[in-house]
Amino acid sequence: MKLLGIDVGTGGSRALVVDEQGRVVASATVEHEPFASPQTGWAEQDAHDWWRASESAVREVLQADGVRAEDVACVGLTGQMHGAVLLDERDEPLRPSIIWCDVRTHEQCRALTEQVGAERLIQLVSNPALEGFTLPKMLWVREREPEVWARVRAVLLPKDYVRLRLTGEKATDVADASGTLLFDVTHRKWSDEMLELAGLDRGLLPRAYESTEVTGRVSAEGARATGLREGTPVVAGAGDQAAGAVGMGIVRPGAVSATIGTSGVVFAATDRPALDPRGRVHTFCHAVPGRWHVMGVTQGAGLSLRWFRDQFGAGADDGRDPYERLSEEAATAPPGADGVLWAPYLMGERTPHLDPHARAALLGLNASHKRAHVVRAILEGVAFSLRDTFTIFKEMGVPVESVRLGGGGARSKVWRQIQADVYGREVELVEADEGAAYGAALLAGVGGGAWETVDDACAAAVRVRERTPPDAEGKRVMDERYKIFRAIYPALRRIAEASAGD
Ligand code: XUL
Repeated sequence: MKLLGIDVGTGGSRALVVDEQGRVVASATVEHEPFASPQTGWAEQDAHDWWRASESAVREVLQADGVRAEDVACVGLTGQMHGAVLLDERDEPLRPSIIWCDVRTHEQCRALTEQVGAERLIQLVSNPALEGFTLPKMLWVREREPEVWARVRAVLLPKDYVRLRLTGEKATDVADASGTLLFDVTHRKWSDEMLELAGLDRGLLPRAYESTEVTGRVSAEGARATGLREGTPVVAGAGDQAAGAVGMGIVRPGAVSATIGTSGVVFAATDRPALDPRGRVHTFCHAVPGRWHVMGVTQGAGLSLRWFRDQFGAGADDGRDPYERLSEEAATAPPGADGVLWAPYLMGERTPHLDPHARAALLGLNASHKRAHVVRAILEGVAFSLRDTFTIFKEMGVPVESVRLGGGGARSKVWRQIQADVYGREVELVEADEGAAYGAALLAGVGGGAWETVDDACAAAVRVRERTPPDAEGKRVMDERYKIFRAIYPALRRIAEASAGD
């Protein structure tokens, strides 16, 4: 039996086949057109392009040795969250989809918070109105493009457009639906009250399933396009964060992951919808029936290091990966970087500041500092920012028993040690570092009968490869530096306010 996960990401779509032991058999990625940004802060992608990339990634993976369409027992979908795909009565996209990182909706968020009330919003949908979420995007189109809005008959999330093309069904899952601001996360259903407050018809939204439920089967048309067998079941799957967590075995309370990609996410599985009354972390349904998750997001995590590499280079080219060279350079500076600090707010910040206008800062320099101090300060600053989420988890009573690292940041030995020292805990690495597509394949395994539950799937497939304990002296220095790091944002804010008055 083989299981197929499809991840409709931002940069590309990925198809991944695993066997019933959870071993990766084949994978293929097809890039998307880069997102268009017709105005500052806008980000749009064409839904047709997601389908083009997904169907060709699936076709490609089905050509791999040992993979035959007849053996694929079930398909699971995952993808970038929050985007709004607006469809007309023939299920044709009416305009380019406004995606997760688009922040044009500041005004809609402000008006919604004023109308509904900040506290009531959190009671209804467990989250504050954030620019990236789906509802503010819908409200923007209704206000700014009424002629388009008049023709909207259905609204889907990105991966669910691919599902529509694959199966002919409109459906979503509870984890992805949680990021729309229209979902009653506590009761795992669309919020009638929120729909009414927003003046929206429930009929616009697809049915929301638990992640392991089958939502439909590959249609004749879907089979022709992808090479999959007609009738292959497709499970609901999950948004990329929840699916990625399943792929790392983050499914039970106490299990936490810290993933450093472009952004950084600290994700905890919970057995109740844990709420932060200030909305600094997102509270969403998990891809496991009867469980939820909370996550904090650092916008400029891996991005901080990429920015440094792009602007200042990665040292002399010796044929190795530039990030490996930067990591090695960082390791030559001592913990605490001799007083240099980095606040990673290159793209504003979500957790804990919820400030899209925040700016980054590098401070504490003197004439004896070298590049290595700056690189080390960047790695430490990103980890401090992720620690802010652990601090909020503590306030909320969210248990943290084990921490698994993921994303590009987990590949650097020095960044793994920094994270262990900054979080003050042992950190683990898993064997299959395959991201959300792997979690989607495991969810397909539950829907397809390979495993009874998501817990069983993770127990069978997810294995720890390496453990890094904190270093006592490193932890002591990091605890001291974290206190100082916490003083940076309030000072930056005062500077921003003073310069706005100029
Ligand atoms: C989650 C989030 C990202 C997107 C893009 O809140 O914004 O994970 O799903 O990958």
